[in-house]
Amino acid sequence: MDGPDREERIVERYVDRDGPTRRSVLAGTGSGAALLLLAACGGGAPSGTGDPSGTEGEGDEGSGAMPPGEVLARADDVPVGGALSVTVGGAQLLVTQPEEGTFAAFSAICTHQGCTVAPGDGELLCPCHASRYDLATGAVLGGPAPEPLPEVPVAVASGEVTSA
Ligand code: FES
Repeated sequence: MDGPDREERIVERYVDRDGPTRRSVLAGTGSGAALLLLAACGGGAPSGTGDPSGTEGEGDEGSGAMPPGEVLARADDVPVGGALSVTVGGAQLLVTQPEEGTFAAFSAICTHQGCTVAPGDGELLCPCHASRYDLATGAVLGGPAPEPLPEVPVAVASGEVTSA
């Protein structure tokens, strides 16, 4: 496995984007982290690095881009008609199996204001303002989200769902 290398890449991403402060602030104070999360989900436009559209040209977080060959999940761990939340290379993703043997993956960053979308009952659900997304396509089914969740192309081999 590539545990240490992956961890280093995650740390590099945090350091490159925000300097050491983002992670240390989150780790340093529980209430501070809670306030940051509330601020991120509150009113106003999405802020810089949380831009779910990926239009700022600063990187791939939230855009659904992922290098090919990254293991996203074991196929057996993804419920049929449901989804599995995973974090790969610092990216929060949802791996879905809308029908048995059919897999998809999407960025878990809500296109409304950047909250983390979670598996719902036969759909994907944002806990902040109840946007709902389709398991198979990432399309918006309801709520204030303006765009579908960015898709991560996947392949399935040897019981693993990987980025393609
Ligand atoms: S952040 Fe508002 S619905 Fe997801």
